[in-house]
Amino acid sequence: MRRRRPLFAANWKMHKSPQEARAYVTAFLPEAESLVASVDIVLLAPFIDLECVCDALSGSTIGFGAQDCFWEREGAFTGEVSASMLKKIGCSHCVVGHSERRRLFGDTDETVGRKVTALLAEDITPIVCVGESLDENRAGRTAERVQEQLRAGLGYLSDAERAVLVIAYEPVWAIGTGLADNPKSANNTIQTIRSAAGGLGEARILYGGSMTAENSAAFCAESDIDGGLVGSASLDPNKFVRLIASATQVFDAR
Ligand code: PGA
Repeated sequence: MRRRRPLFAANWKMHKSPQEARAYVTAFLPEAESLVASVDIVLLAPFIDLECVCDALSGSTIGFGAQDCFWEREGAFTGEVSASMLKKIGCSHCVVGHSERRRLFGDTDETVGRKVTALLAEDITPIVCVGESLDENRAGRTAERVQEQLRAGLGYLSDAERAVLVIAYEPVWAIGTGLADNPKSANNTIQTIRSAAGGLGEARILYGGSMTAENSAAFCAESDIDGGLVGSASLDPNKFVRLIASATQVFDAR
């Protein structure tokens, strides 16, 4: 029997006002409620939407979370939001080390590690992103690169701490490009991730990078892919429901 419960996380990135977020949840909930019997669903919203999303989701088992955090609890850190603040507003998950943050905002494996620690201390599940660039992929360095990111970012955690993480394997060249990875090769990399460090053997590992309603089933039919971190195809509630529904059928058969 399959032990890992599938997870689909909507990464809205810098999209949606609080009003738009509320309208999304209102449209999403009636369709999505039947899916949560088989999978976990989390909406990862901009900070300003979290209160609205929390309110609109009340009474539902769909979770919500943020797309980044800072590792200190509070203080003179202009523009930042801490893991402890996210906890107070009810976040269950938080993305860490997304490639857009690594590339545009200076996140490093070391700062990713500090954020993971802060989130674990608040009992928020970190969704830790790893993935290779196009050059690294072409040079055959994919496995090496993701192992490096995991070692540097998570090396100091215990096996028990690593086991509660969610890892998102997102090849940088596949994000937002419409050029999804090949499901078999994504599965191979995810198998490498599972064996990269203690505790990850049974952790949930997602694929991310141009996942759509058309390809989610092919990814989720693979043995080690436990769901998706979905950007563009999560922005429309109906598309996101279709993406999850089509993957759910293959999980049930896997
Ligand atoms: P995408 O984004 O689905 O638009 O490729 C995925 C992500 O960045 O998490």
